[in-house]
Amino acid sequence: MAKLGSIGVILTISCLLASTLYVNARKQGLDIAEDFLDFPRKDFYLEKEKVVKFRVFVQDLSVNHPNTTTYDVAQASITATSPTGFGKVRVIDDLVTAQPNGNSRALGRLQGLLTRSDLTTLAISVNLNLYFSAGPYAGSIISLLGRNQIALAERELVVAGGTGVFRFARGYAIQKTNSTRTNVSVLEYNIYTTYNAKLNEVDEM
Ligand SMILES: *[C@@H]1O[C@H](CO)[C@@H](O)[C@H](O)[C@H]1NC(C)=O
Ligand SMILES: *[C@@H]1O[C@H](CO)[C@@H](O)[C@H](O)[C@H]1NC(C)=O
Ligand SMILES: *[C@@H]1O[C@H](CO)[C@@H](O)[C@H](O)[C@H]1NC(C)=O
Repeated sequence: MAKLGSIGVILTISCLLASTLYVNARKQGLDIAEDFLDFPRKDFYLEKEKVVKFRVFVQDLSVNHPNTTTYDVAQASITATSPTGFGKVRVIDDLVTAQPNGNSRALGRLQGLLTRSDLTTLAISVNLNLYFSAGPYAGSIISLLGRNQIALAERELVVAGGTGVFRFARGYAIQKTNSTRTNVSVLEYNIYTTYNAKLNEVDEM
């Protein structure tokens, strides 16, 4: 009987100890293995990551160009009377080249939406994918977001992420106008981004 009693005491103390440890672990934000029994997961870390700067040129043909690659898709009730064309949505699929000349090496396309989204200043919300179909990044995408205030000499956009060599990418892009002629603007994108992040599994404990 005395033996059973002492086993009971030991069990009680063990339970108290375990729950105290559990609460402490919780407080410290540590992972409780049983929390993940029905929620499998694996930890990874980024082993190596480089930063690159490169420049591409975008052949932006106006909607009036006979071979245009940009089309207006929608506008708002205010667009026609808005000083900034507020509410106009345009979709583009512009040729991306290695040099300003439209006949230079084709690297891919800049595709997505441009939305006039500032009531008082001429500014465009961009939602664009820079898709490489040739060159060193063929098959990879950089996703660009941001506010393009087109009257500025340099417009800064966000590199929000990417695919392929640009998985986990983050950075920024400086957009400048390289030249303009009838119905064609050649835009220069200087892109600063991380790339080549190698994903490694965290060793089992
Ligand atoms: C430029 O656009 C205008 C319409 O605004 C058109 O009449 C003209 O043919 C276009 N010129 C070229 C070279 O694209
Ligand atoms: C439009 O494309 C056609 C066919 O590629 C080409 O011959 C023509 O010169 C282009 N027009 C302009 C204004 O670039
Ligand atoms: C356009 O790009 C070329 C090639 O990089 C460069 O030499 C030239 O200075 C640029 N022009 C402008 C106005 O930025």
